[in-house]
Amino acid sequence: MSPAARPPVRLSDVQGGTLQRWKTGIDEMDFVLGGGIVPGSLVLIGGEPGIGKSTLLLQCAARLEASGISTLYVSGEESPEQIRLRADRLGPSAGRVHVLGETRLEAMVHHAAALPAQVVIVDSIQTAYTEELEGAPGNVGQVRECAARLMRFAKEAGPAVLLVGHVTKGGGIAGPRTLEHIVDTVLYFEGEATLDFRVLRAVKNRFGSVDEIGVFRMTSDGLEPVADPAAAFLAGRAAGVSGSAVTALMEGTRPVLVEVQALAARAGFGTPQRVATGLDHRRLAVLLAVLERRAGVGLGDRDVFVNVTGGVRLAEPSADLAVVAALVSSAAARALPADALFLGEVGLGGEIRPVAGVERRLAEAERQGFRRVFLSTRSRVAAGGLELVTLEGVHELARRLAA
Ligand code: TYD
Ligand code: MG
Repeated sequence: MSPAARPPVRLSDVQGGTLQRWKTGIDEMDFVLGGGIVPGSLVLIGGEPGIGKSTLLLQCAARLEASGISTLYVSGEESPEQIRLRADRLGPSAGRVHVLGETRLEAMVHHAAALPAQVVIVDSIQTAYTEELEGAPGNVGQVRECAARLMRFAKEAGPAVLLVGHVTKGGGIAGPRTLEHIVDTVLYFEGEATLDFRVLRAVKNRFGSVDEIGVFRMTSDGLEPVADPAAAFLAGRAAGVSGSAVTALMEGTRPVLVEVQALAARAGFGTPQRVATGLDHRRLAVLLAVLERRAGVGLGDRDVFVNVTGGVRLAEPSADLAVVAALVSSAAARALPADALFLGEVGLGGEIRPVAGVERRLAEAERQGFRRVFLSTRSRVAAGGLELVTLEGVHELARRLAA
């Protein structure tokens, strides 16, 4: 292109309007993307091996193809025969998708342009390589160069390109993380491999909001969007058991109810254990110290286990009060009211602080049949249909739960 080909223009002369988007027809996927796949965009879908990335993308490919958007699925990990076997599990609709077993970048681009494909899926970026660079597929240079070339291909020729990237626990592997700033959108697919739930999370999105999640269930015939994600993680909760407290987290714009379980058991020989799953163990240590010093609930001689159900991680301090309530309940061997929600951050002074977005969390809890909510006295909120139990500090919580 000559330097004069595209002179500067005034913003007001630029064609505005809404972005075109191709719906995958998988609602939770479209939601996380911000409404569908944007033509010409580069999307990275990261996740641990075995979590379901290939399954999800093959399902997307089938749906896109069925709605008339030509899709090419390039795999460097599986042969077309293996992909066919997977597709057969997912139902008849994947038959029209074009597949290509290929690892050479130049060949991928050539075939994608020749088809021409409107959506190109590259599974995975770690198996792609370009002949122009030395080094084996999967090394940082190859991964970055291939992604950059696919980016240019997407911007110039207009197809959307979806890259699969494997991430190991801890995210350390050279690869996907180094691509986050190159691509338009980064989605991470997470979940415990042993549980059915899978959470797709947008951590970067040039065409939508971040931190949105989509929830799926892995079934024997593929991934199924979960119809009521806000309620999904509470399914199977046992009522009347001590050490269980429910809180509402904000995942993007969606409130999600989760159960925090605690078990305080007499410690065996040696130092009592502290095991936290789905919660930072240092946060647990802080909350235990606050409980002991500010509420007189000492668990120093007990093993303490805290678990967040459904494979969810508590990243927000708003769940502190639920953790504390679960601990107090387990220590006293008394179940919390089954219709109670706990919402609040706990400070080092034992004070309970209000949380953001409280109206939306309460509305969701009410919709799901909760009747009362324990929260900070400083929360500014109208009760709606919920009974508000306001608390100054953890000592008050301990006293109320013991009463
Ligand atoms: P896969 O999509 O291959 O994961 P990734 O590409 O992220 O490595 O999914 C792997 C797991 O999903 C595998 O253990 C089998 C399981 N699975 C199902 O349970 N149901 C299905 O319909 C399919 C296709 C896979
Ligand atoms: Mg795979």
